[in-house]
Amino acid sequence: MKISAIAVTGSPKAEMDFHENLKVLCLNTLPPRSYFIPFAEDQQPSEDISLSERYALLNGDWGFEFFDSIVDLPDDFTSLPFKKTIPVPSNWQLHGYDSPQYTNINYPIPFDPPFVPDDDPVGVYRREYTYTPDGLRRILVFEGVDSCMYLYVNGSFAGYTQVSHRMSEFDVTDLLTEGTNSIVCAVLKWCDGTYFEDQDKFRLSGIFRDVYMLSRPEKRLTDYRITADMNGEFTFTPKGADAEISLYFGDEPVCSGKVSAEEKFTAQIADVKLWSAELPQLYTLVIRSEGEVIRERVGFRSVEINGGVFTVNGRKVKLFGVNRHDSYPDTGSCASEAQMRRDLELMKAHNINAIRTSHYPNPPRFLQLCDEYGFFVIDEADLETHGCVAVYQNLSWSREGGYGGIALLACDPDCEAPIVQREELLVTRDVNRPSVLIWSLGNESGWGINLKKGAEKVKQLDSTHPVHYESYHCLEALSDDILDIVSRMYSPTEAMTEFLKDEKETRPYLLCEYSHAMGNSSGDLEDYFRVFDSDDRFMGGLVWEWCDHALPLGRNEDGSIRYGYGGDFGELHHDGNFCCDGLCYPDRTPHTGLLELKQAYRPVRVTRLEDGSFLFRNMLRFVSASDRLSCRYEITDSTGAASSGEVSFILPPEGTCTVTVPESEKLSVRETYIRFVFTDKSDGREVCFDQIKLSDEIVPHIRWLLPEPEYTAAQLEYTVTANGVRFVFDRRHGQLTWFGKDGKNFLQKPMSLNFFRAPTDNDTVKGDWYQLYMNDPTPKIYATGIFRRDGNVLIIVESSFGKSIFRPFAKVITEYCIDSGGRLTVTASLKADAEKLSIFPRFGLRLFADKAYTDVSYYGYGPSESYCDKHLASYMGRFSAKVSEMYEPYLRPQENSSHWNTKELTVSNGETTLKVASKEGFSFNVSEYTQEELAAKKHRYELERSGYTVICADYAMSGVGSTSCGPVLAEQYRVPLTGLRKSITFELI
Ligand code: GAL
Ligand code: MG
Repeated sequence: MKISAIAVTGSPKAEMDFHENLKVLCLNTLPPRSYFIPFAEDQQPSEDISLSERYALLNGDWGFEFFDSIVDLPDDFTSLPFKKTIPVPSNWQLHGYDSPQYTNINYPIPFDPPFVPDDDPVGVYRREYTYTPDGLRRILVFEGVDSCMYLYVNGSFAGYTQVSHRMSEFDVTDLLTEGTNSIVCAVLKWCDGTYFEDQDKFRLSGIFRDVYMLSRPEKRLTDYRITADMNGEFTFTPKGADAEISLYFGDEPVCSGKVSAEEKFTAQIADVKLWSAELPQLYTLVIRSEGEVIRERVGFRSVEINGGVFTVNGRKVKLFGVNRHDSYPDTGSCASEAQMRRDLELMKAHNINAIRTSHYPNPPRFLQLCDEYGFFVIDEADLETHGCVAVYQNLSWSREGGYGGIALLACDPDCEAPIVQREELLVTRDVNRPSVLIWSLGNESGWGINLKKGAEKVKQLDSTHPVHYESYHCLEALSDDILDIVSRMYSPTEAMTEFLKDEKETRPYLLCEYSHAMGNSSGDLEDYFRVFDSDDRFMGGLVWEWCDHALPLGRNEDGSIRYGYGGDFGELHHDGNFCCDGLCYPDRTPHTGLLELKQAYRPVRVTRLEDGSFLFRNMLRFVSASDRLSCRYEITDSTGAASSGEVSFILPPEGTCTVTVPESEKLSVRETYIRFVFTDKSDGREVCFDQIKLSDEIVPHIRWLLPEPEYTAAQLEYTVTANGVRFVFDRRHGQLTWFGKDGKNFLQKPMSLNFFRAPTDNDTVKGDWYQLYMNDPTPKIYATGIFRRDGNVLIIVESSFGKSIFRPFAKVITEYCIDSGGRLTVTASLKADAEKLSIFPRFGLRLFADKAYTDVSYYGYGPSESYCDKHLASYMGRFSAKVSEMYEPYLRPQENSSHWNTKELTVSNGETTLKVASKEGFSFNVSEYTQEELAAKKHRYELERSGYTVICADYAMSGVGSTSCGPVLAEQYRVPLTGLRKSITFELI
């Protein structure tokens, strides 16, 4: 149904003819231009654009009417009463209209381009604008409207725009009358652009970015182009009008001149101060033209690919980046300056140097902030057609398990305009930003002729930046040589090293997405770093993704927010918690993965040389690490004793230096480590550290002078006593039921072997675990025996674990050795059913203690959670915590807070202390929650405490990896399926 056809001729609704038309992306908009805000010529142009007399911000409460269907929209909706209001900018789904939908790949509407459902929701916005004619034109600017907008001024149609993340300008002067005017915007939830904006996010609508009116002369600077390179060559090309320019560094004038419209002003700047992410030095350009003055920032820098190596200012650069969405739990896709600054400050504090604006241009202010803070930006066009995959999955011409269909629109001649124009909008708006190093054509739209034409368009508009696109999926034999970078997502490290062997390929290689940070994740960062570091052709990568996307469902009693994800908003279809895959929680509290990332991206790396000295390596390319950072060392041993001191060093850009620490040469009989901690000289903040082992523990042989343990063996039970400690062993179930002294049993439930963990988001094999009942197995006891050996009592159990249908998933031999000191050493060996299982979650022992056991201390990898593949941010040390603190509140509960390579753990109620130790190192969790509870609940706010202190001591705990969207967990991080035999000792003191 054509909307215009069901409306009364001449009514506002009769203009609604463009949102199902692939050829019309806008009507009456001014030609796209670079972003800038003019001031009046007698003003001092400033960073604070609100001071400009020529700029009137129209944000605020606008009148609002909402219709579930465009069909119900009255013909003359511009004169509705508008009794309700809505803030601009915002998403209407967060203000009581319609509801959010989280969908990743699948389209939220039937695939029927260019058509959208008849029941297309519409939000109609209205506000007044007072106009006093002054000879200047009035240009109404929208920085972002999702998904499209029909604009009316005083009831007359003023124009149309789509492409949600574009900047749209309308010269509305001729529709204004002196005094009060009405501006009405009809914003549709869906339009044909919906097919090109299938980004993985909550689908939210409305005027979600700033709206303002510019007063500008009729003849004016319509646009300008700046170039500024590492050799100090500066050019300025005004469009539409002549200009006079002055360039400053700080307050120092650097050059100035006059230039005619369309001509190029060129200057050679002596002793130029270069811009880079590490040292974001900016010049200020003042542009005067036709009674306007504009303040612009200029960064001198060059981006080049030399011999397949990505360089900035002639230096080999690696992107240590993240993918970022505009996503906030309180404001949805609307990002304020304060929110953006907070993101950037947090990124800086975590050693991130690059951002991909996945998967659309961010607010123009965002890029100015990136210039200022210093980030290398991959600026991405507003394009993704991922949903085509599902639509065309069954067609014979799709390949790779049906993925080829992704390129459907990329290859469709009817879609050339929407795709190519999106590229044009990207480049024209952001071309002058120093932080933008790379253009990205979009995301997950396959490779096809339209993308190729888009790349040509980009190159025609700007030849000074490389063009990027992840072009893996293609329907035709269409070369992607026009792209300057080979870009992949989530490649296993082996595939990356294969790439180097391709002799025909001469481009650098980027991981535009890697290490999917969903839930308890980020287990592979150092492995990826090693590959990046192994060859100059690898230009680094960007972790997916910066933050969890979640929206509030309500509040808990303590006032904290109950976060919801896909499926919590009544969606017809959704992708669950796949939107909670960030390095930070929605409120930007860092996940432990972000702490890992901070270390993986650390600016200084330390190794120990054979002669005992230490090699410092500066990972920074443009600044001396020693100018920025102070360093101190801490030497600690297993008792926690420490010594520390300052380290002086000189570490030039890209350089190395050696450092000696005489203290580290001292002999020790204990396990000893040195930790180099680097702090920021300006604010004392910790930037990174490296810890290196100096010596192993030399364990003295202890002989007990106590009487040997006594035991009795009954048909169903063994009882052992040693040094006042009593043990009762249940032969029927093969487990210890009593372990205590002074008549008190420490064990609130029998101590049991434990094979399961609450699946992490990366435990995509969890289905196998449940099929095998690893979460709730039944033991089969083949044999038990009790013996004396070397003055100890030894109980041996041969058992297997399973439940039904299959063979037992594990055979275990467990030896309980009780010495005359009353210490219990449990040695277990595992043989798993390797045919059925690839990844075993964990192998260990579980103890339920009284909940009064709240005080935990350990010598192991802490203080943040650590796993065999996730321990960059943690280090060997003595740490203590309350059991309630030993919990990471992932939005969807899952395994958390394990501590790897622990040598000693104590859990105390103030009177009695359980000590758990192993020379070989073990992993542990101490928690108020059971793994069953964590596994059962969908949101963190649903969790209920168990009423116990649950202690898991694991011989082995699998790593976390990043498999939720990435390679399977590497072999070396899995619990070994055979041959594992380790011991853990328990003692009550
Ligand atoms: C990528 C995609 C991202 C996101 C991620 C999974 O394939 O580019 O937008 O969907 O997967 O979280
Ligand atoms: Mg996608």
